[in-house]
Amino acid sequence: GSKNIQAKLVLLGDMGAGKTSLVLRFVKGQFYEYQESTIGAAFFTQVLSLNEATIKFDIWDTAGQERYHSLAPMYYRGAAAAVVVYDISSMDSFQRAKKWVRELQRQGNPNLIMLLVANKADLETKRQVQKEEGEQYAKDNRLLFFETSAKTAQNVNELFYEIGNISRLK
Ligand code: GTP
Repeated sequence: GSKNIQAKLVLLGDMGAGKTSLVLRFVKGQFYEYQESTIGAAFFTQVLSLNEATIKFDIWDTAGQERYHSLAPMYYRGAAAAVVVYDISSMDSFQRAKKWVRELQRQGNPNLIMLLVANKADLETKRQVQKEEGEQYAKDNRLLFFETSAKTAQNVNELFYEIGNISRLK
């Protein structure tokens, strides 16, 4: 029969990495060159139909600015999946992503699906983080890895469908 699943997702990562842009691309099919920085967190929902299952995503898009860091546990607690985002044109954002991964590992929910997302793949000429570097880190830490562009929509649906599929099978 058909299955109805609700899954809470959280996006974490440095300010400007493109968390809000990825969510807006997925939920509304939109992209803004001048996306405003998130304050606190923003909430979105989206429903996906996948192989006789309906998955309702509750998506928490957190603020990357350091001053909001202490709020993050409220959003990742009870989450089915955490999407840690960095910007391929910023090595700093990759270092920040690794800090998020360590924090999520320490908080110790063994069922949490963790994904590492290398965003802004369209900025190839400004690339500071090689794809292999992200992939290797993901492999070493057992994270799913995607290179995306919220701007061109590259791999964005694939990312969320993958989360949906894993949630469906759990
Ligand atoms: P905070 O809310 O501050 O944590 O930032 P964020 O991670 O939500 O980033 P946001 O989505 O606000 O994007 C920051 C800037 O990067 C905006 O100007 C976006 O237009 C731009 N941006 C986001 N994704 C992409 C992308 O895939 N490619 C390019 N070229 N720009 C992007």
